[in-house]
Amino acid sequence: MVSSPSSSYLSIIVLLLSVLLIDSASIEENFTQCLSSYFSSNPTQFSTIIITRKNESLFTSTLDSTAQNLRYLTPSTPKPEFIFTPLNESHVQAAVICSNKLGIHMRIRSGGHDYEGVSYVSEIETPFIIIDLAKLRTINVNITDNSAWVQAGATIGEVYYRISEKSAVHGFPGGICTSIGVGGHIAGGGFGTLARKYGLAADNVLDAKLVDAKGRLLDRETMGEIPFWAIRGGGGGNFGIILWWKIKLVPVPKSVTVFTVSKTTEQGAEEIFNQWQDVAPSVIDNDLFIRVIFQPVSAANKTGRTISTSYNALFLGDANRLLKVMQQNFPKLGLTEKDCLEMSWIKSVLYIAGYPNDTNPNVLLQGKSTFQNYFKGKSDIFSGQVGAFKELSRRLLQEDDPLLIWNPLGGALLDHSVYDSPFFYRSEYYYLVEYLTSWHNASEDVSKHLDWIREIYKYMTPPVDTQSRAAYVNYRDLDLGVNKKNATNFTEAAAWGNVYYGINNFKSLVKIKRKVDPENVFRHEQSIPVDLSIKV
Ligand SMILES: Cc1cc2nc3c(=O)[nH]c(=O)nc-3n(C[C@H](O)[C@H](O)[C@H](O)COP(=O)(O)OP(=O)(O)OC[C@H]3O[C@@H](n4cnc5c(N)ncnc54)[C@H](O)[C@@H]3O)c2cc1C
Ligand SMILES: *[C@@H]1O[C@H](CO)[C@@H](O)[C@H](O)[C@H]1NC(C)=O
Ligand SMILES: *[C@@H]1O[C@H](CO)[C@@H](O)[C@H](O)[C@H]1NC(C)=O
Ligand SMILES: *[C@@H]1O[C@H](CO)[C@@H](O)[C@H](O)[C@H]1NC(C)=O
Ligand SMILES: *[C@@H]1O[C@H](CO)[C@@H](O)[C@H](O)[C@H]1NC(C)=O
Ligand SMILES: *[C@@H]1O[C@H](CO)[C@@H](O)[C@H](O)[C@H]1NC(C)=O
Ligand SMILES: *[C@@H]1O[C@H](CO)[C@@H](O)[C@H](O)[C@H]1NC(C)=O
Ligand SMILES: *[C@@H]1O[C@H](CO)[C@@H](O)[C@H](O)[C@H]1NC(C)=O
Ligand SMILES: *[C@@H]1O[C@H](CO)[C@@H](O)[C@H](O)[C@H]1NC(C)=O
Ligand SMILES: *[C@@H]1O[C@H](CO)[C@@H](O)[C@H](O)[C@H]1NC(C)=O
Repeated sequence: MVSSPSSSYLSIIVLLLSVLLIDSASIEENFTQCLSSYFSSNPTQFSTIIITRKNESLFTSTLDSTAQNLRYLTPSTPKPEFIFTPLNESHVQAAVICSNKLGIHMRIRSGGHDYEGVSYVSEIETPFIIIDLAKLRTINVNITDNSAWVQAGATIGEVYYRISEKSAVHGFPGGICTSIGVGGHIAGGGFGTLARKYGLAADNVLDAKLVDAKGRLLDRETMGEIPFWAIRGGGGGNFGIILWWKIKLVPVPKSVTVFTVSKTTEQGAEEIFNQWQDVAPSVIDNDLFIRVIFQPVSAANKTGRTISTSYNALFLGDANRLLKVMQQNFPKLGLTEKDCLEMSWIKSVLYIAGYPNDTNPNVLLQGKSTFQNYFKGKSDIFSGQVGAFKELSRRLLQEDDPLLIWNPLGGALLDHSVYDSPFFYRSEYYYLVEYLTSWHNASEDVSKHLDWIREIYKYMTPPVDTQSRAAYVNYRDLDLGVNKKNATNFTEAAAWGNVYYGINNFKSLVKIKRKVDPENVFRHEQSIPVDLSIKV
């Protein structure tokens, strides 16, 4: 029988207890510990930049703040262990170093507009944390040398606004939706109304600052031209954490012209659309960008729905010249003077993004989305005519809230060769089609919507003898395939790699990934694989 423990027993128990306590240290405690030793500072310093479930409301509001797709915020979606919200560059470097040391899986978020939420949800690996760059959103515009340094957490709308604040005749060729983050957006290419005049956002990047897999802060010169090639279109979350882009500003006229003209099936939409397909990516002046939005609307007789096709356009010039260009190249639309609105470039940004026409441009400084919804998107990049108007209309009428958006490529995209950047789709005849379906009710049957979009996508399969399927990496689609945990399999990844980048560019990206991130620190469902087995 043991009466009372001796002092040596006691010290063993204390020792055991302390080992147990250390062992039970949470990921967050270990991470905080690592950060404080990195900065030789007090751990409490990080309590406000590491957001955990201990403060449930703050955790939820931070997680939800920029998550654009509500499908990835449902209660059953995996949640991060914590959200790290760096306030400066060294915080990001330390986060990479500490995550590596502790074996913690990171997701990187800038604007949170990833179609499949891979910047804030890992469906393949837990635990994980989010490095959320929302507090790093400085923008320094220098009109004298036509450039700006923009931090990854800024939205493209903030960038447009800050440029317009300094000059009425400068702009930047980025995306149409103003709440997308420049971190992910430019990494995946960045396409908008100025693409036919000036190319992609990524084609107009002069320099960048990135934290690599080892936690080093590199710029164009120190990373080298080959990684610098990869980060301009190779897709976010692959090669490091972009902290800054140095972008090249482009000239825009003091006054531009916009219009939106809608035609229903009954108003000859099919014939007009066929002419648009003939001219939009190639024949038409590069100053003119016209996208077409297909969606169901109430029919004129109010007893059913019909398909409306909206021609939504930006012209870098005045209405007079626009009318001449339209008369010459696209007469079937029947554009008239009263359809044309002349305004400043920054006002046209708001117009094309869908803000009401009296909105003050400073709305862009809100730096966040005005809506969130449940959605699923897919994309195709086609060359040549799609003669499927009636069948597409029939299918659109079967879905609650679908959209088909047709964007012309061509123009200045051809100023670069297909291997000049990871963005492969630079031919005179390409256009980018976006399929979208959205809903607003959490308890709706999701599979109904997913089935609908998968069916229309299947229907649109291009003829096998003309081209293989192509898509835009910024419209991420996990149906194309998913990397298994820590996947390194090139063959599996080709299911999306070849589609987003074309086979040769994809091989180059794998080669670069192997060099700059051999441990696969930056990985997600569709990251570039580190395949050591194949020769590239
Ligand atoms: C409503 C809506 C409208 C859109 N409109 C357009 C458009 O007009 N034109 C267009 O081209 N695209 C458009 N997109 C697509 C958009 O460009 C992509 O979703 C883009 O990736 C968003 O960037 P983000 O920073 O907001 O996204 P996030 O979700 O934060 O990130 C997207 C991807 O990039 C990675 N990433 C994020 N930040 C960094 C970083 N700093 N360094 C490295 N990797 C990072 C993430 O890990 C993730 O893989 C739209 C998307 C939505 C939802
Ligand atoms: C925290 O670190 C300790 C000491 O290295 C380790 O034993 C423990 O497993 C870590 N905790 C977690 C949750 O990883
Ligand atoms: C949670 O965070 C918010 C915002 O910082 C703060 O106002 C609140 O007091 C915190 N709640 C708790 C329980 O710490
Ligand atoms: C970032 O902030 C930390 C304090 O959290 C500080 O120690 C460090 O010097 C800062 N780094 C830079 C580059 O400002
Ligand atoms: C802007 O660019 C010019 C020309 O390169 C340079 O001289 C000037 O210092 C820059 N201004 C700022 C504020 O960086
Ligand atoms: C009403 O319009 C729809 C779509 O244009 C059409 O399909 C339907 O036949 C019309 N109904 C009547 C009663 O005209
Ligand atoms: C704004 O829109 C309204 C309604 O569509 C229209 O009447 C008005 O003329 C527009 N104003 C300008 C400046 O375009
Ligand atoms: C959401 O969908 C559920 C189930 O279909 C339905 O009961 C509910 O009324 C819907 N809510 C709204 C606001 O439409
Ligand atoms: C890679 O994936 C393909 C397709 O799933 C499979 O056939 C092949 O065996 C895998 N290769 C390796 C090395 O795991
Ligand atoms: C992932 O693979 C790398 C090597 O490619 C290895 O070093 C690392 O430990 C792996 N991580 C996990 C979580 O399996």
